[in-house]
Amino acid sequence: MDLDRRTVLSGLIASAIASGLPLRALAAEEVARVDDLIRRMTIEEKAGQMTCLADSFRPFNPPNPAAGIQDEKRLAEEIRKGRVGCLFNGIGVAGARKAQEIAVRQSRLGIPLLLAGDVIHGLKTIFPVPLGEASSFDPVLCQRTARAMAVEATAAGLHLTFAPMADVARDQRWGRVVEGAGEDVTLTALLTAARVRGFQGRDLRRDDSLLACPKHFTAYGAVAGGLEYGSVDISEETLRETHLPPFTAGFGAGALTTMAAFSEINGVPATADRTLLTDMLRDEMGFHGFVFSDYTADEELVAHGYAEDDRDAARLAVLAGVDMSMQSGLYIRYLPDLVKTGAVPMATIDVAVRRILYVKMAMGLFDNPWRSLDEAAEKSRIATPAHRALAREAGARSVVLLQNDGVLPLDPAGKQKIALIGPFTEDKANLYGPWAFYGDPGQGVDVATGLRGAMNDPDRLTIVAGCAIHQPIDGGIDAAVKAARAADVVILALGESQDMSGEAQSRTVIEIPAAQQALADAVAAVKKPTVVLLRHGRALALHDGVANANAVLATWFLGSEAGNAIADIVFGKVDPSGKLPVSFPWESGQEPFFYDRKSTGRPTVPNGSTEYKARYATTDNSARYPFGHGLSYTRFVLDNLKLSDSAMRWDQSVTVTARLKNIGKRRGSEIVQLYIHDRVASRTRPIRELKKMERVTLEPGESRTVRFTLARDDLRFVGQGNRWIAEPGVFDIWVGQSSQGGLHGRVTLYAPER
Ligand code: BGC
Repeated sequence: MDLDRRTVLSGLIASAIASGLPLRALAAEEVARVDDLIRRMTIEEKAGQMTCLADSFRPFNPPNPAAGIQDEKRLAEEIRKGRVGCLFNGIGVAGARKAQEIAVRQSRLGIPLLLAGDVIHGLKTIFPVPLGEASSFDPVLCQRTARAMAVEATAAGLHLTFAPMADVARDQRWGRVVEGAGEDVTLTALLTAARVRGFQGRDLRRDDSLLACPKHFTAYGAVAGGLEYGSVDISEETLRETHLPPFTAGFGAGALTTMAAFSEINGVPATADRTLLTDMLRDEMGFHGFVFSDYTADEELVAHGYAEDDRDAARLAVLAGVDMSMQSGLYIRYLPDLVKTGAVPMATIDVAVRRILYVKMAMGLFDNPWRSLDEAAEKSRIATPAHRALAREAGARSVVLLQNDGVLPLDPAGKQKIALIGPFTEDKANLYGPWAFYGDPGQGVDVATGLRGAMNDPDRLTIVAGCAIHQPIDGGIDAAVKAARAADVVILALGESQDMSGEAQSRTVIEIPAAQQALADAVAAVKKPTVVLLRHGRALALHDGVANANAVLATWFLGSEAGNAIADIVFGKVDPSGKLPVSFPWESGQEPFFYDRKSTGRPTVPNGSTEYKARYATTDNSARYPFGHGLSYTRFVLDNLKLSDSAMRWDQSVTVTARLKNIGKRRGSEIVQLYIHDRVASRTRPIRELKKMERVTLEPGESRTVRFTLARDDLRFVGQGNRWIAEPGVFDIWVGQSSQGGLHGRVTLYAPER
C-alpha cells in the first residue's frame, strides 16, 4: 500500500473511531468504501439511508397503527430515488428480492437495503414468549432458541430483528412485561446477552446471522403505573443500576443497533434526549452501532409537548442521536432542509449515515446484497422438525410448578378419568402470545391435543369449555360441574388471551377474567383433585378456586408446541424446573411489586406486629409466589453452606459452596440461586439482590456441591453521585431455591490496605 493511501486510511479510521463505529468487524478498505460513498451522497440520499419504512412489498397484518407509505408502487419509487435505507416487518424472499433489486440495481448509488422485522420469539416455529422462557433461568437455552429464530428469519429475507427486549419490568400492569426477562436486572442482563449471541451467531457476515436490537433504550419498563407509552420519573442512580446493565450486556455481546424508547425520562422524551442517546449510550457505554427511533416516535415529540412541529421533531431527534427514523418519514422530509438552513450540521448527518453503512458493511451486505435472500433456504430452514423439537423442549423448560400437593404428575397409563375444562382447552388462537404475528395459528398444538397425544387411552379425557375467555356461556358452568363430578381429576385451562398482554395492553387489574374465576370457583366446589394450567403474559394475582387448586402451573404462552410441552410436564415425562422471573403478588394493588425492594424504616417481621408497618391495610406486602420460586416433582434440600473466607479483601474473591441433594424419588433439576444484601450503605440497598444462579440436575439420592465465586464487583451499586462503588461492610448471603429463605451466611468486605 502506498504511503498516501495509508495516510488516508488511517485518517478515515480515526474519523471512524470518533463516530464510535464497529471497526473490529471491518477491513480498512471497507472503511474507505463507506467514506467514499458518503462523499458522493446527496443530502437527500443521506436522509434516505436514515429512513426506515414498513415493507409494503411483503404485506402482513401490522401490529402498529397505520402510518407512512402503505403502497408498494410508491415505496418502490422511494427506494429507486435512494430515499429509504431500511424496510421492516415483511417476510418472504421473493418480495425482499424485488425490493433489493430496486435498491441495488436501480438507485443511483446501489446501496443495499437493510431488512428488519420483529422476530421476538419465533418466525414460523414459535418458541415460548421471552418472559416464559426466562423461567428457565438458562442463558444456554435462550441462546439456542434465538439461534433457531435467526436461522428461520434469515431464510425468510430478514437481516435484523427488533429484539431482544432488554427492559426490566417492575410493574406487572405493564403489558410488555411479556416481551422481556422479567423484574430482575441480573437475569435480564444475562438473558439479553445470550439472545444477542444467539441471534447474531459467530459471524455477522454469515447468511444466517440476524442482527440484534436490544430495546427500548431505556427504562421503558419503569413507566409510571405500568401505563404503556407513559412517563418515567426516576433517579439517575436507579436508572443506571437497574435499567442500563441489560443494555450494556447486550452491547457487550455484540449488538450493533438499539431502539430509543417511546417514553420520556424525567421530562425529556428518550427520542430527543441527547444526554441519554449520546453522552450515556456512546460516550459512557461505548455503543458502536446505530440507534433506531421507535415507530413514529420522532413525530410523537410534538404530542409529548417537546417539539413545536414535525420539522422541529426531526431536528431534535437527529441532534439527540437517533440515526434511523422508523416509519414517520420525518427524516427524509425535513433533514435536507434542516441541513441547508444550518439547523443541523452536515457532520451530524454524516456520522449517523456512517454508522448505518458500517453496520450494513459489517454484515456483508455490500459484497453480497442477496445474503439471506435465498429461496432454497426459505424452503429448507423454516419450521423444521428440529426447531419444533427445540420449541417443545423450551416450552417444557418454561413451565413453573407453583404449587403441588402431590396430584401431579398424572400417570399417562392411568385409569383415571380427566375432565379438561376452560376456554383454553382446544383454543389455538392464544397459544403463541402477542408478538408472534408471522406464525401460522393453525400450526400450534393446543392443550387438548397435547394431553390426548400423551395418554394411553385418550378417551379418558373429557373436554368442556365452561365459559369463553371473557364471558360466561349458556349452561357452561353446569356442564363443567357435571364433567368434574364424573371425573377423577380436573384440569382447568384458564388465564389471559394473548391480546391481554403485549404492546398497549396495560391493565389496572392483573387477574384472570371474572367469567373464568366463576367457573373455577364452581368447579372447586365439586372438590375433585384439580390442576390449574395458567396461560398468561405477566404475573397474576390469583384467588379462591384458582389459588387453592391442588396444583397450579404457570404456562405463559408456550408457542407452537404448547400442548405437547404442557403434556410433558403434566404426565411427568419432563420434571418441571422453571423459576418465576416475576413475583406473583397477592393483589393487583401491590404493583409495582418486585422482590428487590427496599426495607423501609418500618418493615414487617415474621410473626411480629403489623401495626404501623410498611404494608397495605388489606394485605401483606409479600408475594404469593416469590421471584425465583418454582417446584419440582422431586425434592431438593440444600445444606452445608461454606464460605472460603468470611472476610473479603478488596481485590480478592470468596468462594461460596453449598450442597444440593435430591431427596425425592425422581430425577430432577434445581436452579440454585445466590442472593446478597448489603447491610449498611450510603444509599439504601434492596432487601435482596440475585447475583448468581446455577442449574443442577440430580438423580434420586444424588448430591452435588454448587460453587459460586463472589467478588467485589458483585457487591457494587450505584451510589450517590451516580458512580458504581463498593463499600466495605457486612453483606448477607443466601443460597437458596427462590428469593425467599435459603441458607444464610455473611461476608465482610474490607477496604484496601494502604
Ligand atoms: C414497538 C417496537 C417495535 C416496533 C416495530 C413499536 O410499536 O414499540 O418494539 O419493534 O413497533 O414493529
